[in-house]
Amino acid sequence: MSATLLSVEALRVHIPVTRGVVLRRTTGVVRAVDGVTLDVREGETLGLVGESGSGKTTLGRAIVGLVPPTAGSIRLRGVEVSTLSGRGARRARSELQMVFQDPFASLDPRWPIARSVEEPLRLHRAGDRRERRERVLELLELVGLSRRMADRYPHELSGGQRQRVGLARALALRPALVVADEAVSALDVSIQAQILNLLQRLQEELGLAYLFIAHDLAVVHQISDRIAVMYLGQIVELSPGVDLYREPMHPYTVSLLSANPVPDPSVEAARERIVLPGDPPSAAAPPPGCRFHTRCWLRERLGDPEICRTLEPLLREVGPGRSVACHFADEAAASPVTRRAVDLAGGRA
Ligand SMILES: Nc1ncnc2c1ncn2[C@@H]1O[C@H](COP(=O)(O)OP(=O)(O)OP(=O)(O)O)[C@@H](O)[C@H]1O
Ligand code: SF4
Ligand SMILES: [Mg+2]
Repeated sequence: MSATLLSVEALRVHIPVTRGVVLRRTTGVVRAVDGVTLDVREGETLGLVGESGSGKTTLGRAIVGLVPPTAGSIRLRGVEVSTLSGRGARRARSELQMVFQDPFASLDPRWPIARSVEEPLRLHRAGDRRERRERVLELLELVGLSRRMADRYPHELSGGQRQRVGLARALALRPALVVADEAVSALDVSIQAQILNLLQRLQEELGLAYLFIAHDLAVVHQISDRIAVMYLGQIVELSPGVDLYREPMHPYTVSLLSANPVPDPSVEAARERIVLPGDPPSAAAPPPGCRFHTRCWLRERLGDPEICRTLEPLLREVGPGRSVACHFADEAAASPVTRRAVDLAGGRA
């Protein structure tokens, strides 16, 4: 097993909610990330899934230093990075990079792409102008773009090409970890496959680790060694991808699995989806006890045990490399509902 690259421990990112334009009063906090512990090993891909608003982007942004943690720690090869400043912070930042769903967010429309890719090199004062230009051209080739692209503008590129440019820019400072936030979600399926292949090739060539964020469990499963499932600011299950697909142990994971599209239309038509009631509760006022209890299909089947509403289940180890935060994880794994979801989605994956 490879060494630990990044350790996140008891991380909280609480975002103040303000009202009023003149007197901006704080009226509450959104607990976007609320006690996350996980690690990423050298060269691995850790997938991160969860529905909209679960805190995936905020967790990614905190890891790369775009948003300050409220509490907890983020260590890179054992060194706390969230409190670094000056040169130490710059060095750590260069090792932790992020790629976004919309590459327009990181590419200035007025700049030729060479300038966008060069920008991190300039900020870090890497080399002189000629050396930087050479490095930019190398980076474009590395992500499968021709050197001729260097002087084009973002609007002249396709979505897939722009995503390659975003990646080239993220790789400019030779990071150890790239947080890929919905990096393929906006692309057509065939282009998605090309970018996923590129990510895998780069990982092999450069020894990169990824935190790969997506809504879609199927895409995450394709690329990840391990998968973390997030719900309302917390990790509810973390496990090797194969195990998560074969034997999910958190009722929320099971519902995500049951929502995976199945390629065979006859199977797709016949199967039952677990439709979670209602929207996720607000991250400003998460439910007491188990945060998932207001929508949990298993709780009902178990006759509404009081513990689900009163005691928060902690993420606990249930097997080699497997953790889950549910009081009834064994019951969840053994439930016929779970078995059906696995047969239809994961059993054949
Ligand atoms: N700058 C902000 N101000 C106020 N609330 C915020 C801010 N950023 C995030 N949030 C809130 O924090 C929670 C987590 O948001 P986040 O964007 O991290 O979720 P996500 O899992 O990435 O969602 P999505 O799948 O839609 O991208 C949400 O409730 C969101 O509304
Ligand atoms: S602890 Fe209870 S409510 Fe929470 S996921 Fe498990 S069974 Fe459902
Ligand atoms: Mg997001």
